[in-house]
Amino acid sequence: MPDRGPLTPAGAGGGGVPKGAAAELEKAPRAIGRMFDAIAPSYDLLNHMLSMAIDVRWRKRALRSLSLRKEDMVLDIASGTGDMALLAHAASGCAVLGLDLSGNMLREAVRKCGPAYMAVQGDALRMPFPDAAFGKAMTAFGIRNMADIPAFLREVRRVLRPHGTLVVLEFSLPPYPLVRQAYLLYLTRVLPFVGGLRSGNRAAYQYLSDSIQRFPSPRSMLALFTEAGLEVAEMASLTLGIAHLYVLRSPGAGPDGGA
Ligand SMILES: C[S@@+](CC[C@H](N)C(=O)[O-])C[C@H]1O[C@@H](n2cnc3c(N)ncnc32)[C@H](O)[C@@H]1O
Repeated sequence: MPDRGPLTPAGAGGGGVPKGAAAELEKAPRAIGRMFDAIAPSYDLLNHMLSMAIDVRWRKRALRSLSLRKEDMVLDIASGTGDMALLAHAASGCAVLGLDLSGNMLREAVRKCGPAYMAVQGDALRMPFPDAAFGKAMTAFGIRNMADIPAFLREVRRVLRPHGTLVVLEFSLPPYPLVRQAYLLYLTRVLPFVGGLRSGNRAAYQYLSDSIQRFPSPRSMLALFTEAGLEVAEMASLTLGIAHLYVLRSPGAGPDGGA
């Protein structure tokens, strides 16, 4: 079992993203890790701003889909500052193993979550866990940062047990034209401006805004999940489509299940 606390200093420090670099940031894991290291102190505020403070309700809804029990050890992929872990533990008493690229984000999580939380610093595209290590996994606002979503889903399938569950919570663009327009205005104008002012790192907030706009639509996500061999047990549009919840199951063992 991995040790408590961030394991390696890789990705820590580095001073964040230079101004104007959002477009070039792409999704190179080291650059992403450095960017989240830089905004870790203001991240919780950012998240509440992005979701207009309704993210706690979404998170609780996502966690209900995992039917957590006290004896569970849940994998929290792209765990960040540990908000999902905190709520998961409060709801069920379960333990959480948080994986993230950013040492600074994980340090916040360790500080907030206490002894039921274990932090591992690493890349979700190459998770440092054996096959079929977890029955339950979750990722909130993490999947849109993955450089290669199909490769990420294959990696999740590898670490999930047969019939295991993955819950994905992610922002999306509302389908209703007026709401979409208003939300895009908020994403393109308000968020980078206010986030930049608050953190002194406008490029990071611009990246976050861009990554939401570029993220595949819910319909495309369904295709990606199915192509990865994950069964879509549930999909729900949250708050006028500002976010989506996906509940996915890994196949059973055996020749067809491939587990
Ligand atoms: C928007 S934050 C979400 C944090 C948290 N899950 C939450 O609900 O608030 C995205 C997180 O994904 C992490 N991340 C991005 N790419 C990653 C990767 N390839 N492997 C592991 N973590 C990654 C970032 O470091 C960051 O902490």
